[in-house]
Order: sequence, then C-alpha cells, then structure tokens
Amino acid sequence: MRVENQSQTPERHCDHKGRQAHLLQYSQQANLRGTLTASLCDHNQREIVSLHMPGHKGRTSLPGMPSIAGFASEFDLTELDGLDDLSYPEGVLKTLEERIARLYDVKTSIVSLSGGSGGLLAAITAVAKRGSELLVPRNAHRSVINALVLTGLKPRWYEPSWNEQFGFWEAVDAKVLEDALVDDESVAGVLVVSPTYVGTTSDIKTLAAVAHRHGVPLIVDEAQGAHFLPGTLMPSSACSSGADLVVHSFHKTLGALTQTGAVHVVSDRFVSAGDVRAAMRLISTSSPNYVLLSSIEQTIIWHSSEEGLKKLAFVAQLSEKLQREIADRVVVFSPQNGADPFHVMIGSPSMSGQELDVFLRARGIFCEAVLGAGCLLLLGTGTEAGDIDFLVSALAELPKNDDNKVMSSKAKPKPLEQSLSPREAFFAPSELVAAIDAVGRISADILAPCPPGMPVCVPGVRVSADNCNLAGNKYLRVLLEQGDT
Ligand SMILES: Cc1ncc(COP(=O)(O)O)c(C=O)c1O
Repeated sequence: MRVENQSQTPERHCDHKGRQAHLLQYSQQANLRGTLTASLCDHNQREIVSLHMPGHKGRTSLPGMPSIAGFASEFDLTELDGLDDLSYPEGVLKTLEERIARLYDVKTSIVSLSGGSGGLLAAITAVAKRGSELLVPRNAHRSVINALVLTGLKPRWYEPSWNEQFGFWEAVDAKVLEDALVDDESVAGVLVVSPTYVGTTSDIKTLAAVAHRHGVPLIVDEAQGAHFLPGTLMPSSACSSGADLVVHSFHKTLGALTQTGAVHVVSDRFVSAGDVRAAMRLISTSSPNYVLLSSIEQTIIWHSSEEGLKKLAFVAQLSEKLQREIADRVVVFSPQNGADPFHVMIGSPSMSGQELDVFLRARGIFCEAVLGAGCLLLLGTGTEAGDIDFLVSALAELPKNDDNKVMSSKAKPKPLEQSLSPREAFFAPSELVAAIDAVGRISADILAPCPPGMPVCVPGVRVSADNCNLAGNKYLRVLLEQGDT
C-alpha cells in the first residue's frame, strides 16, 4: 500500500476550524473560567496533532457506523429490555463478547469498562487462589500493585532488560523468568508486559513454555497492543502465542473510547472464564456505560472487516515513513526484540526529553509521554498521513544529528525490597508525611507517576531518597513506627 503525501496541515485541524471558534467561545464564558471544561476547550484549540491516547485521535466516526460523538446521549442507557446485563451477559452483550473472542481467536473475552487496569485486576484476582505469590516485572502497571493489595498476593519481583541509551525497561529474557521460578510451589502466576509502554515485545511463546513447565499460568499485559491482529504487519498477539490470559485496552491504539478493554481467556487449563467473570464483577460498577460498550462494538466490527485491517497496515506504513524521515534529526529507538510500529520513541543528544516535548508542544504536537531521555509518540487508528507530515516538518527545524554527541542516559532504578506484603502495609496503621521525612520508613502507598504508571515505590517497601525524587511527590503515606500513636 502506498503512503500518500497529503497536505502539511492535518485535516483534524482544518475540519475543526468552526468548532475551534465554538470552543473558544465556551472557554471564555465567565462561569467556566478555571474549570475542567474550559481546559478541555483550551487544549483542543492548541492541539494540531495528537500523538497520545486515545487512539482515535479525535476522529471517532467509523465508516458505516453511527457516530459515537453524535449519539452519546441517545446511547447512554441502562440494563433495559433487550440491552442485556454485562455482569451476566446472555443477549447482545454476549454476542459482543463472542465477536471480540472471534477477532482475537480466543475461547472467551470478558469486557472491562475500567480499561486495561480493570482487566489486570480481574485476571490477577482470578489466579490468586492458586498460590501466595505473583511473578511481577519491574515495569508492571500500577493496577497490578492494586491487585496485590486486594488479593494479598506477594510480588516476586523480576527485571526485564534495561535500555541504557534511553533509560527504560524492555523485553523479558526467558532465563530471567526461569531463575525467578526456581522454587515455584507458592507461585500463583507469572505476569509479563508485552508490548511495553515504549513498544518492545517479548518472545511470549518461549516465556509461556517456561511458565507452563513450572505449572503456572502466564498473564500477558498487552494493554498497549490491542492492534496486534493477524494480516496487519504487526507482531503476533500473545493471544496466539501460548499465553493463558491476555489483557487489552481498546482505547490506546484502537479507536474505542477511553476506559474500554477486555480480558481474553485463551486457555482454561489453569483459570476458567467463570473465575475471570466473577473477578470482573467484583471490581466493576453495576452501571456499565452503554456508550463505551457501543464504541467497543463498533471498533471490533470495523477491525473484523478488511477496511479496518487495512487501516492498521496503513498506520504501520506511516510509522515506517516517519522513522525514515526523522532519522537524521532525532535518535529513534529500535527495540531489542520485535518492534510495535504504533509506538515510536525519539530522543535527541542536544536536548532532554522535557525540552523535546516543549519544542513539539510549541508547534501544536502533543506526545504521549516524556520517558527516560526521550519522548514517546503514540500512533493510533485515527492517525492520518497529514499528522505525520506535520510532525516530520516540525522535526526538520532541529539541527541535523551530531554523531559525536550521545544522549544522557538514565540510571536503572534500584530493586524494590519488600519488608511487608503490599496488602499488609496498605492496611497497617499509617500517617501522611512530607516525602523527605518518608525516607527510611515503610511505604503504605504506591508511587507511580502517570504516564506511564509504573511503580517507583509500593506498599511494604522501605522508601529510599531515590524513590521520593523519582516520583516528585510532596507527601507519602508511611507506616507508623513503634512508639507512634
Ligand atoms: C502496560 C500497561 N498496562 C496497563 C495499563 C492500564 O490500562 P488502562 O489505562 O486502559 O486502564 C497501561 C496504561 O497506560 C499500560 O501502559
């Protein structure tokens, strides 16, 4: 497929000129001053190109589907006759889940309306009765720590490889997992994040074989990779690589509205779909949002069609073009293993990640995150050729790469040593103290700045000066010390 050279100004910007004027009017109303609504209007006026979540990039109308934006109030309904019940689906919602399961070629899919976070909470809760420990990678999302607090599972931490150049975690080595599984009696399950927040994939087939040799289920957090569909130039999904449970977000790279996701039960050898469903009921609202459900359905129907698959392949080609055209202005991160084309991490030897972010924002380009020494650009199904052209011409303003300069790398975070389990620490008597006074004491809280939501400190860990600096938090809840009242 050819990547067409479109105009320099993304159509989102052009299409919305009338709307922009409307937004400006709203944001200047006296009763909206300082409100969230005014800030949303303001942001939309400043943003020309979205390279952050959600994946629809403000383009929510799918061909042949009712526009979600246009029908938000009409679709905001509840469990009425004919609309089924997400807690015990038997009608149209069962059909929706079956449609999702067909797309990913899995036994059962269970919808989450708390995104990938809800999916991880449900998946981990479902395996909890199998043992007392969970193998947790150092780059786990903070919802995993929430799951440890809820279930009482203890983390057995392990480290993926560390990228020295940019300063972030990458793929999981099978040997590391094998070593962490020595003495596997108490292990309830293994969690792997693939793709990572920056798009590095792990060899799930090999990791699944390791987990299964030790008789434990493999849960893959594929929240960042719901677009890994066959026939699209994407890496293989964990759903077809031997994982037992796979967690997706549908809003990060696909076009569904924010807060949508699913847990896929690929194999019920270790955990049944009934266990995952029960766990999902435990953590879900009893009033599921039908606008979100409809947006999942429309996204899944679209990607089950040739047109939807073609769009994914087209965005992958845009990513290749982008990486080629900016290679002389910035350093483009190449993952050690498989690459996810929707995540493009860039850095510069002549500026920090923060400075690069400011440079792009000044030109109306908003990145997903500043991470380590660079910025993460997140493409999605809403990405168009005009967005990429606009970004390329902005980066062309930077001086050409000087091969003699190197990026300032970030040090690998220190290992987390649990003095108590996250659950014990979370529920123990605690007090809120200034971050500086928390050093040396046991944390009762999670520090996980978002994005990316990776924990730098978790309940039950003794706080180091490192932890406090990294999180930039002012206060932290710590356990009361003996003698405190
Ligand atoms: C790797 C990973 N897992 C899980 C999540 C949580 O997903 P959600 O934001 O859909 O709840 C995130 C969010 O950024 C993530 O990056």
